[in-house]
Amino acid sequence: MPSMELIAFFSSLAVAVAQHVKVEPAVFGYVGNQVVLRCQFVDPDSNIEVTQVTWVKDPSGAKQNLAVHNPHFGTNYPVDTKERIHFRNASLTDASLVIDHLLMTDDGIYSCEFATYPEGNQEAATNLTVLAKPRTSGNPLLVSSGKSPVPVASCIAAHGKPPASIIWRGTVPGNATMELTQNADGTTTVTSQYQAVPSSELDGMTLECVVTHQTLERPDVINIALTIHYPPIVTIEGYDDNWYLDREHASLTCNVKANPAVTSYRWYMNGGDLPSKVRAMGHQLTVDQVTYQVNGTFSCEASNTLGKTRDSINILVREVPLQSRSTTGAIVGGIIAAVVILTVLVTAVLIFRQQRKNSDLDTGDDEPPSHKPPPPRATLTELAKVEMAEKMETVPLDTAYFETTGEEANEMTLIQRYSEPEGDEDLKSPLEMETGDYLEQENPIYTGVQYAEPEPEHRKSQEFVSKGMFV
Ligand SMILES: *[C@@H]1O[C@H](CO)[C@@H](O)[C@H](O)[C@H]1NC(C)=O
Ligand SMILES: *[C@@H]1O[C@H](CO)[C@@H](O)[C@H](O)[C@H]1NC(C)=O
Ligand SMILES: *[C@@H]1O[C@H](CO)[C@@H](O)[C@H](O)[C@H]1NC(C)=O
Ligand SMILES: *[C@@H]1O[C@H](CO)[C@@H](O)[C@H](O)[C@H]1NC(C)=O
Repeated sequence: MPSMELIAFFSSLAVAVAQHVKVEPAVFGYVGNQVVLRCQFVDPDSNIEVTQVTWVKDPSGAKQNLAVHNPHFGTNYPVDTKERIHFRNASLTDASLVIDHLLMTDDGIYSCEFATYPEGNQEAATNLTVLAKPRTSGNPLLVSSGKSPVPVASCIAAHGKPPASIIWRGTVPGNATMELTQNADGTTTVTSQYQAVPSSELDGMTLECVVTHQTLERPDVINIALTIHYPPIVTIEGYDDNWYLDREHASLTCNVKANPAVTSYRWYMNGGDLPSKVRAMGHQLTVDQVTYQVNGTFSCEASNTLGKTRDSINILVREVPLQSRSTTGAIVGGIIAAVVILTVLVTAVLIFRQQRKNSDLDTGDDEPPSHKPPPPRATLTELAKVEMAEKMETVPLDTAYFETTGEEANEMTLIQRYSEPEGDEDLKSPLEMETGDYLEQENPIYTGVQYAEPEPEHRKSQEFVSKGMFV
């Protein structure tokens, strides 16, 4: 804090100057700003006569007269061609001098001199230090990946006075170098370089260059994103280990990280050209129909200006698809199974209602429903049993059931729509296919009938349902 130092200097040295001229021994100013060099003539007894006031720069050297004030002859600034200097309030007791638009060259010792009678010349000196705010900048250094440390970022605090300080912050492992250059104008340029092993992982990482200087209110923080150039890093993705004969659409993706960007991709099979049924489009390889032709090693080669890199993958063509189901498949299957159960329940209820209606018709009873004979409880129990025992073939399928009312048909249609299978065709397991076929039946009624299918497949379905229910 310049002002603190300044006050400290002033109070300590003002006492030491045991005479009539009072100045601030040390003054700090900023380049481009205004500074005031204070100077008073103190004469409590008023027995000294001042005849002239003069400011001299570099009194022990060049002795350059800057400003003269004489009550008779006026005020003069001998060397001030740009009108940067003037007395704040020219008088014989106050010689304070104002300097505008400070230059680095204004730095130096200024002597405030009073010509008096009878005591002769009296003077006091001020040390004016001109501080220069550094111009800060930072940038990444373009480097190619490698194994030994090199400068990856540079930060500069140019033309500062006193020299600025630079520190680095960030998670990039490395060291900083510091270089100070003295400029002709008395300022210093500080250059710091950050050294790190330029691995491809550093590409895009950021470093903070923090510049501190007494002319800066708060440290200047410069964010620098590192740029490391490296040849492509290639991985082939998308192989699900389930390329079976006649599978429609199988694909591979060439996943590449590179800086600069990839300029071209090339695909190979067993080190040579691709078979006819295989299409390569940039980073994507597509097989429309899997045959034994694609049983082999596929390679993707990506190039950028730094080189080319190849990754390979062995494709095994299976005679039959793998049976293992994925978790997602199980969940989707579970949902479908739940819908199937719901459909069966609704069907059962409908059958039950229809049976009631039929029995009503059989009795020919015109009385309100409340007076009907007790519902065929036995039938309900039987139905429930039937459900539990998975023996739907025993359900007495009344012909009347097929003549469902419009309302009921709509209900069924809604359910059927809801249960339409969604998702990837390829992922559809044989079981799901079965479910899908099952739901494709034109008449919702068939859902009930379909349920009564041969034992083995039915078993499978139930097994699967319970699995799904627990998910
Ligand atoms: C300037 O000097 C005159 C005469 O010495 C004095 O009356 C006046 O108060 C001074 N003004 C300032 C701003 O010091
Ligand atoms: C003036 O002040 C500066 C900064 O405090 C110091 O480096 C320099 O030595 C001083 N000059 C003289 C002549 O005392
Ligand atoms: C940093 O500098 C130290 C000592 O100069 C050296 O041992 C170390 O390997 C350097 N680290 C890096 C990342 O350059
Ligand atoms: C497919 O390739 C594997 C080796 O990757 C080989 O063991 C197998 O016999 C090949 N199958 C056919 C049908 O060519």
